[in-house]
Amino acid sequence: MATVSLHEALEALRQEITQTPIDSEAAAEAFRIRFLGQRSGQLTHLFKRLRELPPEERPLLGGQLNALKRLAEQRLEEARLRLRPTPTGSAEIPDLTLPGRRMFTGSLHPLTQTLEAIVRVFEQLGFAVVEGPEIEDDWHNFSALNFPPDHPARDMQDTFFLHQGASYAEAVVLRTHTSPVQIRVMERMQPPIRIIAPGRVYRNEAVSYKSFCLFHQVEGLYVDQNVSMGDLKQTLHLFAQALFGKDVRMRFRPSYFPFTEPSAEVDIWWPLPDHPEGGRWMEILGCGMVHPNVFRAVGIDPERYTGYAFGMGVERIAMLRYGIDDIRLFYENDVRFLEQF
Ligand code: PHE
Repeated sequence: MATVSLHEALEALRQEITQTPIDSEAAAEAFRIRFLGQRSGQLTHLFKRLRELPPEERPLLGGQLNALKRLAEQRLEEARLRLRPTPTGSAEIPDLTLPGRRMFTGSLHPLTQTLEAIVRVFEQLGFAVVEGPEIEDDWHNFSALNFPPDHPARDMQDTFFLHQGASYAEAVVLRTHTSPVQIRVMERMQPPIRIIAPGRVYRNEAVSYKSFCLFHQVEGLYVDQNVSMGDLKQTLHLFAQALFGKDVRMRFRPSYFPFTEPSAEVDIWWPLPDHPEGGRWMEILGCGMVHPNVFRAVGIDPERYTGYAFGMGVERIAMLRYGIDDIRLFYENDVRFLEQF
């Protein structure tokens, strides 16, 4: 009699153990206490009742009870794994169809990327890279570049003076362009010379969407026998195609610089769908044939050598490259802007 009811109790318990849902941490704990509890768990209870059986029947039923206990333990273990809190604090199984978490890996500043792209093009054309100081004297920044003493570029409007001195020749300034590097290179070496000089320049101008008090230029200088304006145009055309693609539209406009004659400025067409004319010209550089007075100032014979020079604005080129319409964005270090590059 006792045997039958113990068998029946075991079967009933098996049903309960396999069918009781475990869908929360609380349910798992209740399950453990109810079936596996040391003192009043239902399995413990049945184990105690084994004594009611004749000794020869105990091993069989005992084995079945042990198997049922393992089943209960397995269900509990499986439920705990499933319910284990995820890193988000929710107990749900992660949704593997969700998009992955984005990795923030820094990147080079868009100006650095543009500067490197420019330098790469000219290196391929055989130009060597040189650098000059950002603090300059009057000679290198102005006088040797054929600026007359009363030239407006010397004016305090444009130039940051670090030291003014008794006369203009004693001035120490933050360089207003990279052209002084031309002078420093030609003072040291004779032609052939083929260099570019990237770097920062400073101008005391009203800050607006198109001008900032500091910006970057890449200077170029090529001096040899029989260098012509045609060479200059071809080099700049190759450059524009390398940076903006084969279909780039560029134009040369006559201009004036004290240190080149003739002089020109180069514009690139900026297509703008919303613009009434479909886009506008953007000036990116000044250039020209090295003025004989500049050669004389550095001891190079202007009868023997000719050369061209150019100075391009890196910010302007970066604006064209990325479609940025305000130069100040480059200097605000807003991560929402920078992370797009
Ligand atoms: N230095 C000039 C500027 O800053 C650009 C330039 C460089 C023009 C070399 C001619 C030759 O605007």
